[in-house]
Amino acid sequence: MLVEKNVSLQHSNTFGIAARAHTLVRVRSEQDVHDVLADHRLVRQPLFVLGGGSNIVLTGDVKPVVLKMEIKGLRLLEETDRGWVVEAGAGEVWHEAVAWTLAQGYPGLENMALIPGTVGAAPVQNIGAYGVELQDRFHSLDAIDLATGRAFTLDAAQCAFGYRDSVFKHAAPQAPHEGSGLPRGMGLAGRAVITRVRLWLSKEWRPELGYLDLERKRAEAGTEHPTPRQIFDWVCEIRRAKLPDPAVVGNAGSFFKNPTVTPEQCQDIIARDPKVVHYPLPDGTIKLAAGWLIDACGWKGKTVGKAGVYEKQALVLVNRGTRSDSVTGGEVMTLAKAIQTSVYERFGIRLEPEPVVV
Ligand code: EPU
Repeated sequence: MLVEKNVSLQHSNTFGIAARAHTLVRVRSEQDVHDVLADHRLVRQPLFVLGGGSNIVLTGDVKPVVLKMEIKGLRLLEETDRGWVVEAGAGEVWHEAVAWTLAQGYPGLENMALIPGTVGAAPVQNIGAYGVELQDRFHSLDAIDLATGRAFTLDAAQCAFGYRDSVFKHAAPQAPHEGSGLPRGMGLAGRAVITRVRLWLSKEWRPELGYLDLERKRAEAGTEHPTPRQIFDWVCEIRRAKLPDPAVVGNAGSFFKNPTVTPEQCQDIIARDPKVVHYPLPDGTIKLAAGWLIDACGWKGKTVGKAGVYEKQALVLVNRGTRSDSVTGGEVMTLAKAIQTSVYERFGIRLEPEPVVV
């Protein structure tokens, strides 16, 4: 276990916000987690688990002890007639894990190429893109309960996945799971650290081309039967064309979730704004494109202080500062609140931020 003091986190969050961790522990194995929990000086303070830092806004220095998850490892755990189970360490870069599975000949993750962040963070917000979510390829995960030090495994049902949501985003209930010793059910936010994730990749692979952008790529390529590799390349091209590369322009991906409304609310909005981008969901509600709502309020390309709205995708807030004079978390949140207010005033919809504000 490697313990460091007063560490800059500027390269550990994709926004590139300048903030420091008072204490940072590099966690490279399950044993490192147990060592942290056995160290009385470290556990006197709260713990904060950091993956790739692609979904956080740092509003100041981080006082809790930062556990920087660096557990590595990619391996085929099991192959059956029906598919493959692949296991990845929480500290693996998600995109590299996707590329590795394809190189090995295990398709299924190609639509989720280039999503920033680590494998361990993927289940927390049930990452997804171009019609596929992590929960569609999820097998199980290993985690350690930071309160008791016990290791446990969760399947998909126990993770309670939802749209950009899971058990890891909800606070622990008042009386946490007496008796079992395992934190089953809801409420693992701040309570557990994910160490390994297993993915289920079916041999009955079918291309997922439901998204217009992907269908366009398929038509351009003139193929009826694209390969997983082609889809991977198309997703990378689409993302590179409209999303900023965090290595160049700091950002945390989509800043707000796409809101859902009732058909009546949607009709109301269509009556006033016929062009509103909306998708009916199987449960009868309607999902609205938050990027469109923000764009319609005139925010695209705008800058407030050193926080900006990306010029090609209004759902992405960006760092307009420099490395030595970066945007602050406070500036990002001020801009986010101004956007929320104008979307609420015009459409009556409250946008919910996606990243975790620390
Ligand atoms: N739109 C605008 N103006 C904008 C942005 C979008 O009019 O400035 C319209 C687009 O024309 C499009 C619609 O809004 O018709 C949806 O835009 P897009 O296809 O870019 O997808 P999104 O709903 O904005 C979601 C995910 C992304 C994911 C893409 C593709 C959320 C919050 N975001 O974005 O995920 O890559 O779909 O599947 O669900 C992330 O979570 O960080 C992320 C990037």
